[in-house]
Amino acid sequence: MIPNDYSDVTQQVSTGSLPAKTRVEELLQDAYERYVDVDDGMLAYYIPILGEVDPSLFALSLSNVGGTVQGVGDVGQSFSIQSISKMFVYALVLQELGHDTVRDHVGVNNTGMSFNSVMAIELNDGHPMNPMVNAGALATSALMPGLTAAEKWENIREGLSAFAGRYLRMDGEVYRSESRSNERNKALGRLLKAHGQLEGEPLEIVDIYTRQCSLKVTSHDLAIMGATLADGGVNPVTGERVVSADVCRDVLAVVAANGLYEKSGEWLFEIGIPAKSGVSGGIVAIAPGKGAIGAFSPLLDEAGNSVRSQLAIGHLSRALGLNLFASAPQRPEKET
Ligand code: DON
Repeated sequence: MIPNDYSDVTQQVSTGSLPAKTRVEELLQDAYERYVDVDDGMLAYYIPILGEVDPSLFALSLSNVGGTVQGVGDVGQSFSIQSISKMFVYALVLQELGHDTVRDHVGVNNTGMSFNSVMAIELNDGHPMNPMVNAGALATSALMPGLTAAEKWENIREGLSAFAGRYLRMDGEVYRSESRSNERNKALGRLLKAHGQLEGEPLEIVDIYTRQCSLKVTSHDLAIMGATLADGGVNPVTGERVVSADVCRDVLAVVAANGLYEKSGEWLFEIGIPAKSGVSGGIVAIAPGKGAIGAFSPLLDEAGNSVRSQLAIGHLSRALGLNLFASAPQRPEKET
């Protein structure tokens, strides 16, 4: 068991700051221009309506923890949040139920398998493993406070809206398209239920989850939502406290380990910041204490992560000094 009781030690923070606004603008523009012509990857055809999206869309936004939001490209284009919702619902559930309860119910470790793997559940005694894969996200949404499915859903919508700082609406077409084609998620829900690992009625939970995935956002929204987690839980634009600083720390650790599914280790090695992807092409990457990048471009790699969004965030992480593992010696090296 990894120790986790440090309640008598005050949590200190590791912070830094982003370059000035004009420099950030130049770097966003540079990242956009470098990758705007990349057309590798595939649309998410398994949700029919996502197979009809314009693959050339590309947007990059950055929000710092002071609430300044900058962007380049199709920043006004909305798209469904998809799996990125998992990170924010997890934050809301952690806030309500606490670190230990949610860790015990949902887990934190990587599956090493695809986001909708049945095998991952079976290989782990029916456990959902972590909240960023579909099984764990179903288990997490089931824990959302609310006496009825409708109440749970409204609490999720309200909570995600507080992260964005504006009322988020569902994309009805995406919801209906996914509802007609999500047999696999229904199977995951039933399998978890059979293992005693899901609270409530599986099909109701799958419906709540499908709704949360259909919420419409822009790259600006993603940047602000991410920056709320970078800012100790306070939305930097509205000033509203959405979750506690402890919740942000826990969420970002889980996202670092699992946010890009079976590619999470590789991502952390190359890019060095927690990031969460969704199959409509969004990725949000968070630099604790600094801010967050929201990227959108619909063509995906084989793990379901946007190709251009990964490239652009990788570039920005380096150019803006976001990698959490990067350091330079404080004193000059000794002459030998
Ligand atoms: O459940 C699904 O398959 C989708 N609603 C979300 C999956 C997803 O976004 C995976 N991410 N890259």
